[in-house]
Order: sequence, then C-alpha cells, then structure tokens
Amino acid sequence: MGDAPKAPSFARTEVPEVASFPRKDGKLHCEGVSLAAIALAQQTPTYVYSGAEIDTAFGAIRSAMAAATDRDVLIAYAIKANANMAILARLAGHGCGADIVSGGELLRAKTAGIDPSRIVFSGVGKRAEEIRAAIESGIRAIHVESVPELDVVASEARALGTKARIALRVNPDVDAETHPYIATGLHGTKFGLELDVARSVLGRIVSSPDLQLEGVACHIGSQLGSTAPLTEAVAILGRFALECRAAGASLRSLDVGGGWPMHYGCEAAPYPPPLEFGRAIAAGLRQSGATEFDLITEPGRALVGPAGVLLTRVLYVKTQGTRRFVVVDAAMTELLRPALYEAYHAIAPVALPSATLGVQTSPCDVVGPVCESGDFLALERPLPQVQAGDLLAVYGAGAYGREMSMTYNARVPAAEVLVDGALMKVVRARPPVESLWAHEHW
Ligand code: LLP
Repeated sequence: MGDAPKAPSFARTEVPEVASFPRKDGKLHCEGVSLAAIALAQQTPTYVYSGAEIDTAFGAIRSAMAAATDRDVLIAYAIKANANMAILARLAGHGCGADIVSGGELLRAKTAGIDPSRIVFSGVGKRAEEIRAAIESGIRAIHVESVPELDVVASEARALGTKARIALRVNPDVDAETHPYIATGLHGTKFGLELDVARSVLGRIVSSPDLQLEGVACHIGSQLGSTAPLTEAVAILGRFALECRAAGASLRSLDVGGGWPMHYGCEAAPYPPPLEFGRAIAAGLRQSGATEFDLITEPGRALVGPAGVLLTRVLYVKTQGTRRFVVVDAAMTELLRPALYEAYHAIAPVALPSATLGVQTSPCDVVGPVCESGDFLALERPLPQVQAGDLLAVYGAGAYGREMSMTYNARVPAAEVLVDGALMKVVRARPPVESLWAHEHW
C-alpha cells in the first residue's frame, strides 16, 4: 500500500461559520434539529442539509447580481453540485434555473419543476439523443463546445424541423488561479471553443436555418479565489458578444459561468463576498461595452455546499507508528473530494468532548473503511480525543458529496436529510443493499 499519504498544507484549520449549524448546549444542530437525533433515526453516514442555508445562499447571489449589474439575471444552478429532487424543487420555487450536463440531468431538472426556458446545457460530450431531448424540451440554450458538436446540433434540429437555440461556450484562456482539476478556462483544458474557432463559425450559424445564436458563455473554473480573472474573462466574453451581434446574430444573453466560492475552513483569508463577484462581472461588462445583454450565472457549490454536513460515526481509534487514526463509517465513497483533490473539509465532533476525555486537540488522520490508502477525510487534523461511538460532522458536504459518491466495496449510498426549522425530512432514503446488484444477472 506504500507510504502514508502526505498531509496537504493548509494555512488554517477552523470550522467555517455556518449560521444554520449552531451548537446548543455543546451539541451541534442543523437549524432546530439535533444532529445526534438525526444519526439515531437515520443511522450513519448521512448527509444533512439545511433548507434555510440554501435559501440564504440563493438570496445572496441574486441580490449581489441585481445590485452590481442592475439587470435581469438568470441563476442557472449547476445541478451537478447536488441534484437531489428536494433541493432542485426548492430552488425552482425561487425561480432558479439549471445548468445541466447530461440527458439525465435534463430529465431530473424538468421532473423537479425547473422551467425548461431556464435551463442551459453545458458539456463537451453531449450525445445526439441528449441534444435532441434538449431541443424538444425547448431549453434556453445548448452550450456548444466544439465544431463537430455544432454539426450534430444542426442536424438534430433539422430532423425535428425546428431551430435549435444555442450559445457558443468560449474558452477565454484565462487562468482562474484555482486547483488544476477544477480550472476550465485555459486552452490546455478540454472545455469550450477557442475564440478564433468560435469566430470562424459565426457566419455559418447566422445563415443557418437550423440554428439560432441565443448567447455566448464561458466558465473559467471553480472556487475563484480572486475576482480579477472573472473580470478579464467577462470582458473577453462581452467583446465577443458584440462581435456576434455585428455578424448579424440577434444575441440575447451572456452567461458568465459558475465559480462562486465557498468556505471549507482552511482559508488563510476569507473569499470575496458575493457582491464583489457581482461587481467583478459588472466591471468586465463595462470594459467590453456589452452592457445590453441579459445575464446568466451558473453557481454550483456556493448555493448548496455550506448547507450540508456529512454525519459520520467513529468506529475505532488506533495509533499506528506515529499516527493517530480515527476510523469512521464514512469514506471516500461518500466524500471523494479529499482523496481526489486533497480537499480540506472542516470536521467537528457533534458533541463537545467531555473534560475527562480531554478537550485538547492533537493531530489525527480521519479515515474510512475503504481499502485504499487514499481513503481519508482528513490528514494530520487537530481533533480532540474522540472515541468509538462519537459522531463527527464533516462540513462543506452539500456540494459534490452525494453526487460524486460511489458504491465501491459494496457500500450502500448514504441517506440524505433536509432540515427546515424543527422539521427533518428524509429526502433520499438509504437503499437496501440488494439494490447494488438489482440489475445484475447470473
Ligand atoms: N458551470 C459549468 C459549466 C461547470 O462546469 C461548473 C462546474 C459550474 C458551472 C459550477 O461550478 P461551481 O460554482 O460549483 O464551482 N467536483 C469538483 C467540482 C467540479 C466542477 C465542474 N464544473 C469539486 O468537488 O470541487
């Protein structure tokens, strides 16, 4: 199994402040419901989401965009962050749209009640039948990311006897200054069209009976730590939008992508607040002179990430070599981000440790039961002396948690609970273990 993985170095190791996860009498709650009660009722591991936190995050981005740009802004939630139906339905109720990347996500979004006219379709590998379904559903725009894809969209529209609404997703070659796995705005990545290529198809699109150029789009990456790359990308996008109009397209919208950051607890300095992101977008629009378009933004994690914790129980504690291992019942199968990106997620005991056990923290590795050395939720993390049976809350698990989960080692998908005030609702039940082989034949 090789050497122990090296701990990523983080400047801070604090639990981010999330209003909806208060401590009452030393015990962590989600809004009005104690996490210990949820663990008792639903077992562990379980994802717990706060409805109020999602509402607050949506309101913050909506008001930031309205205040900064003074324009009609569509928030197209990148549903890949967390596509639980209850969350989608809740956001749909706020007038939220969706950024989707597959036919499955299209159906999910529509089923949850998201209006197709508020859906945009990103992704470099859309299949012809997914494109057809999107055209038939009347979504706002298919974000075309390559010339061969443009050909397929045109031929699907022709076959349906209609015009497909599209947007050109350009790759502005801007460095988002984020983790390389979540940076998407450089030419070295697979995403979007280089500007020259996008320009070269403009004439063809404008004269096509099968295509309607609805907009232009870009997404430079996630967890944008500063706003300058966003301004730069939006300025490039804005100038390109004006070129499209000059070429005869009746272009309506400009989609500036996602990337709105959230706090995981290791930040040396806080991320800029939503209003600064809104202002950065507005600055890019001003620089380019493209101030007339409808705006779309595609936040993912910022809407749902802080609203979720992964609730897990300590199975064993052991010391091996120089390391203290806290073995818990959640694993990389429920939260892949630490294993995949060495991502930091704050972890806190659900009940404050008793004075007898010791409140003093010391470093430990929080690991899961999966047979991989990379199966860790935290490395060299200062935690108090926890023991078997204790509950831990892993923060920032509302985004890219359940969505990236897997059933490796025949692990049963964790349950999901949504809390609203004093009410908790199981919004996805833990399936029976037999569901793992329900479609196998022998
Ligand atoms: N729009 C597009 C076209 C995207 O590809 C993405 C994310 C978003 C919006 C939303 O980005 P956000 O606002 O959530 O940063 N699994 C990784 C994240 C991959 C993101 C892929 N695209 C993680 O756990 O960090």
